[in-house]
Order: sequence, then C-alpha cells, then structure tokens
Amino acid sequence: MYMSTDEIRRAFLKFFESKGHQIVESSSLVPADDPTLLFTNAGMNQFKDCFLGIEKRSYTRATTAQRCVRAGGKHNDLENVGFTARHHTFFEMLGNFSFGDYFKDDAIAYAWEFLTDVLKLPQEKLLVTVYETDDEAFDIWNKKIGIPEDRIIRIGDKKGGKAYESDNFWQMGDTGPCGPCSEIFYDHGEEIWGGRPGTPEEDGDRFIEIWNNVFMQFNRHADGTMEPLPKPSVDTGMGIERISAIMQGVHSNYEIDVFQKLIKATAEVIGYDDLSNQSLRVVADHIRSCAFLIVDGVMPSNEGRGYVLRRIIRRAVRHGNKLGAQGAFFYKLVGVLADVMGTAGEELKKQQELVEKVLRIEEENFGRTLERGMTILTEALDNLDGKVLDGETVFKLYDTYGFPADLTNDVAREREFSIDEEGFEKAMEAQRQRAREAGQFGTDYNEAIKVDTQTEFCGYTGTEGEGAVDAMFVEGEETDSLSAGDKAIVILDETPFYAESGGQCGDTGVLKTASGLFKVSDTQKLGNAFAHYGVLEEGVLAKGDKVHAQVDADRRIASALNHSATHLMHEALRLVLGEHVVQKGSLVKAEGLRFDFSHLEAVKPEELREVERIVNKQIRINHEIETNIMDIESAKAKGAMALFGEKYDDQVRVLSMGDFSTELCGGIHAKHTGDIGLFKILSEGGIAAGIRRIEAVTGEAALDAVEAQANQFEEKLSEAAARSKSLEKEIQQLKDKLASQESANLANNVKEIAGVKVLVSQLNGAENKALRGMVDELKNQLGSGIIMLGNVAEGNKVGLIAGVTKDLIGKVKAGELVNMVAQQVGGKGGGRPDMAQAGGSDPAALPEALKSVDSWLAERL
Ligand code: ALA
Repeated sequence: MYMSTDEIRRAFLKFFESKGHQIVESSSLVPADDPTLLFTNAGMNQFKDCFLGIEKRSYTRATTAQRCVRAGGKHNDLENVGFTARHHTFFEMLGNFSFGDYFKDDAIAYAWEFLTDVLKLPQEKLLVTVYETDDEAFDIWNKKIGIPEDRIIRIGDKKGGKAYESDNFWQMGDTGPCGPCSEIFYDHGEEIWGGRPGTPEEDGDRFIEIWNNVFMQFNRHADGTMEPLPKPSVDTGMGIERISAIMQGVHSNYEIDVFQKLIKATAEVIGYDDLSNQSLRVVADHIRSCAFLIVDGVMPSNEGRGYVLRRIIRRAVRHGNKLGAQGAFFYKLVGVLADVMGTAGEELKKQQELVEKVLRIEEENFGRTLERGMTILTEALDNLDGKVLDGETVFKLYDTYGFPADLTNDVAREREFSIDEEGFEKAMEAQRQRAREAGQFGTDYNEAIKVDTQTEFCGYTGTEGEGAVDAMFVEGEETDSLSAGDKAIVILDETPFYAESGGQCGDTGVLKTASGLFKVSDTQKLGNAFAHYGVLEEGVLAKGDKVHAQVDADRRIASALNHSATHLMHEALRLVLGEHVVQKGSLVKAEGLRFDFSHLEAVKPEELREVERIVNKQIRINHEIETNIMDIESAKAKGAMALFGEKYDDQVRVLSMGDFSTELCGGIHAKHTGDIGLFKILSEGGIAAGIRRIEAVTGEAALDAVEAQANQFEEKLSEAAARSKSLEKEIQQLKDKLASQESANLANNVKEIAGVKVLVSQLNGAENKALRGMVDELKNQLGSGIIMLGNVAEGNKVGLIAGVTKDLIGKVKAGELVNMVAQQVGGKGGGRPDMAQAGGSDPAALPEALKSVDSWLAERL
C-alpha cells in the first residue's frame, strides 16, 4: 500500500489521537532552556520535564511529528550525509508519549497496531529487540502480540562498556530521563546485505530499525546514579523518512517522494542531468536543515548554532559547484521544499522570502572565496607528501577562506586524503586563546554545570525574599563554603532574582546573611535552578545558609519598563510594517531595549516615527498591564502572540495591555503602560539578511535621549551659523581683494578728454563701502584727473562714486557728475566737489549711464 510522506504523518497523528493522545506541535529546532543540547534531536526533548515530573500538563498522552537536526555536537551525521541510505542532517521523528500514564503493554500494542493494521506491514517482515534483562517486554511481544521467540532479540550492554551502555537502553544525554527500550526492525529482504541486530553484520542495510519504544524509568544524574522516575513513562520515535521508504517500496530514504522532488528540483536549478549523483542528495538533504533552522531563528554566524548552519550551507554550495552550478542556486530550493513538506511546511511558506534572502546572501558571500580556497586546497593536496593534510593548512582555509574543517575533509576524502584534525584543533585553540586574551574577562555561561535544584521564583510581586543556599560553585567545581573574595555561582531554593529568559536579562543585587554579603552581578537559569553569579564581598557563605535576597530595585524597574515597551513596539511594528514582522531576538536591560525582527528592507524614518507615535499613544492611554495564567489553547484563542517554535508550558502566562497587545510572556513588566513615561527609538539597522534591529529607550533614559538630541541639534545649528558667518567674511575679503586688484587694473583704462585724464568704469560685486578708498587710491595714481565708478553690489544695489582732483573742481563738480549718472539708474546723490557718492536701484541701466559721462564731461572741459 503506497502512502505519501504527508499521508503517513497525518495517519500517525490521527491514530494516536484516536487513542486519547493530544496532538502537540513540533517544538523549535533550538531547544528551549536547555544549554546542554545544540539542536532538538528527538521527539522527547520538549517533554523532558514532563518525564521528570517537574512539569505538569493537562494531558498525560501526547503525539508529535518533531523536526530534528543531527549535525554538529555529539550526534554529528554531517559527513555521512549523501553517502549512505539513511543519514540526514534534518529528519522528522513521529512519536507517541505517555507521562506516567500507560507503560510497556500499551506502548507495544499501539506500535504493533499502527504498523500492521494501519500501515498493513506484513508481520513476518518485522522483528523486535528488547533490553537483555527486560523479560517483561519480551513476554508482551511473545505472549500478548504473538511474535515467535526467534524474532525477539535480547540486546545487552556493550562489551567493555559501562552499565546501560546498550543499543537497547536509551539515554537522552549524560543526564536526564532514560530507560530500556524495544526496537522494531523491518527486513528489506535477502537481496540486501546485512544481518539481524546483535550479529556482526548488523550494520548492513537489510534490517532497518524503524521504531524505538523507550520505557522511561530513570533520571540519570551526573554521578551516574539512576533515580527512578516518579512514574514510569513512554517515549517513542519513528523516523518518518524510513517508514516512508518502506511504504513507497524503495530502499534508500533518498528515493522517497520528498527527496525525489527535491533532488529533481536541485538538478534543475543547477542544470545537471544525472539524478543518481550523490552531490544532489547532499544538497537535497541540506536545504531541509538549513531552511528549517532559519525558520527557527538560527542565522549563519561564526559561533555555536549559527556556525553549524553556516557549515551546512557551505557544504551544500560546494557540492552544487562540483556539479557546475553557476551563481547562487541553493536558495532557489526553498519554495519547492515548502511544498513537498506538506503540513510540516506551513511555517516555512510564511517565512519563505526571508529564508531565501538569508541563504542567497550567505551563498553569494561564500561564492566569492570558494574558488580561491579550492585552488589553494587543490594545490596543497597535489603537493602533499603522504596522505594527511596538515592542521595549519586546514586552519588557514578555515580562517581565510571560510572553509569549515569538515568541508576541507570532504574534498580531501574525495581524493582519498584525510586531514589532521588534532593539528587543526590546536590551531583553533590557539586562536581562541588569542581572542580570549584580547577580549574582556567574562563568565562563560555554557560551562556545563549540572544542577538538580528547582528554584522557586518569588519575584513577580516584589524585589526581596528569603531563600536557602542549595549549592555553590567556584570555577565550575561544587563547593560547600565561600570565603571573602570568591567569585562564585550561588543556587538558592527560592529567590526574587529574575533569571535571564525571554530576552530580559537577569537581576543584580545582593544576598545577605548575618555575616556575609554576596554581590550578584547576574542571574541565569541552569536547568530549573536560578544561578546567582557574583562575588562574596564580605564574611563567609555556606551551603544551607539562610539568605536575605535583595534585588537592585532601580535596575529591575528600568528593565520592566523596557520589557513592557518591547511588547508595545512589537505590536506597533506589525501595524506599521505588516504581519510578516516576526520577533527574531530581544534583549531587555535596565539601560534600554534591543529588538530584532524579520523585515526585508530598512525601516523608513517616517515609519519609525509612526511606530514611536503609536507606542507613546498606548503609554498615554495608561492600560493596566495584566497577567493571567491559562492553558495554551485558551491563550491562543484569546489571540495571544506566541513565538513560533518557542517552548511553552501547558499553563502559560498571558500578558495583556488593554486590547492593544496580548503576548505569552514570563518576564517582568510595569504595572501600567503609563509607567513607561516616554518611548524613544535610538537606532535602526540591519544585522543579517532580512533581519533588522531597533534599539530604543524608555522613561528617564528616553528623556535624556530627547534632551541630548535637542542639545546636539542646537550645537549643530550654532556651529553651522558660526561657520557661515566666517565663510561670508572670507568671501567679502576675497571680493575686496578682487576689487582692489581691479582698481589697480583700472588705472590702465584711463583716457584723456580735452587733455584731462578721465577714468570711467563699472565694477561688479565690490562692496560699496570700499569704493571711497578706491577713488582715493586712483586720485593718487592719476595726480590730476576725473574718476567715475559704478558698482553693482550684493542685492543688485547700484553704488556710484565720482572723484575730481582739487585742480579740476573749478570745471567739474563731483556732486553734479554723480547725480547726472544716478538719475539714470533710479537714484540720486551728491556730495563734495572733489568726492561724491550716490546709490541706484536699476543695475541694468548702469552701462548706458556710464557711457553718457564722456559727452557730459566734454561739454564742460
Ligand atoms: N527518544 C527515542 C529516540 O530518539 C525514541 O530514539
């Protein structure tokens, strides 16, 4: 019976729903509150606390289709992807879960019913394994289900390994829920090589594990002790790609519908014909992990999760290039992927544009260095003595050309070389050391400190409280007492200190005992424990001590205002820019807030002003900020904004500000929106492809910002005024200089009328004030003569001046001369016989007016 992958997914969820299971959405690929896990790698991750009995939900049976990534970290399948039939960076795990409800009997019966009744797999094709000592599971399979003994295989602990180190004892990690398991295998038939589980040939491809049923019974602690769980539980997982292969009558996962379509699309965008090429599989696999990681908020970067994403993208690009891809191609697969994923692709469809942009930019950036890096690598391999490429070259390729080590390894392997991983690690470590030395001293919160305490948080209503010291750590080592000067982590059983989460940073303050004073510089979550980071400033502090915990209230209030403003701004951005705005990151501190969101272009200044206006209006409306605890379904019905892929408990805290904003949030907020006072955006910019960041401030800091802006404006204005004044002055000086040069030249234009030296001339742009000095100067030069100058000054003002040397004033009066000209240019004037000035308003008439001087003088001389 053929079934598509999407049909199988829906049939599975529907089947378990009919058995009383709640269908729960897949959680994000970025595990919530679990720093020990790089990516979600199993369906049970989101239910870890339900198994431990720490978290209660309204249901005790759940079923999911969980997206998982196994790349980077402990379970790194990256290098095998494309070269085996079943390794993937991304896959979906179908699972059913019981939290203290049913146990082995029902788990086994359900699995069997689904496989043989719903999927109609022939019984004789199936065989099962149980943990060596699990007689109970053995009997259920044998007596209740009717599987013959020779098809039930007992698998024990690995030889030479530790207790419980077995294929049939499942553990999430070094700590956490675990238990014996029973796996169901499918026999792909004699024509495929491989042996039954437990035989030396078990790694062959004939018998494929399709479903793992884990009987969760213990919580494993860091010291290896196995504490029984409050109630035995069930966790199961079936890789959807494997079961699809069976239902579609193919052997390799890459032959199932989803992959066939992706491989075809990849061949098309690259322009390559041979669909069996392994590089096509690599690309088809990688687009799945890359696209879904971006949907879940991971962005390519140089560290942590972002770096794993970058490595996968680069590996895909390199394989595409191997097949002759021209230019960016990888991002073109996003649309096809969203289609082939059926119900699991809905969110990807919504974020398609963003995902494409992120991939395209990353691809283009890498494309630039790819070719040079490949040349260097090829040369290095060509000239290699031996078979191992040295660590320094691997590091250089990484550092300069952006080649992740596994990419280099990939290329080397194709030519049957390997790389010196140890040497590479050494070079990397040396670089990290240099970076550490260059960087500031800081606390690495990822130091894996394992704490079992569950701290009670009592800080929603106040900033003070009493608690007892549950555990303390100095440099990662647990200790029973601290002395003055110790830099430590203190865990309390109860605390009013808010631990960083949901973007709001941890509280600061002090922990006091009768003799000791511990100054808290940050609070972080370690599992369910609240860890106070700081220094013991005075006295001693011992495990079990009662402490008075006092949060720095000013900082707390300031960050509460910023947190509330963040919610208002989030809503305002959606109103102004559109519904596509999705929160991609948020940081709320006492000093201000930072908000990252998806939007494909810069936010325009007028849009920012609009956002500010909307937020400030909501502040003035002074909504009461209400919190209500309700179940997640009611919260969603109320329209509460939930972040896609975020882990929410069954009972959630819903924060509402009138009817303007309703969000799920565990953070600390103001009591009324009016408390925020004022909201001011400081900056907007891009931080990654399609991701914008806004920084803003509230309250006192907003007022400071407005004042600073006004001051800055004033300063700028008076600076500009001073500058323009000095420029004007400079211009005038230049003009005067020009004019006096002109007057020097003027002397050359002297003519004679009836034996008298006469100078008539027009100046342009001199200052009228300067004319007098000029005439004096010219008189000196001439000794005896008559001078008539006209000038057009700024503002089209005509300036006129006449000068007559003393010996000639009997014949010609300067006042008359100037007046004769002035009348022709719309002015009048007069003055002494030897020197007279006038103005005028018609510069256009000046040349003609000056021309008339010669004949006027000729009559008088
Ligand atoms: N958690 C189990 C697994 O991943 C079902 O195999």
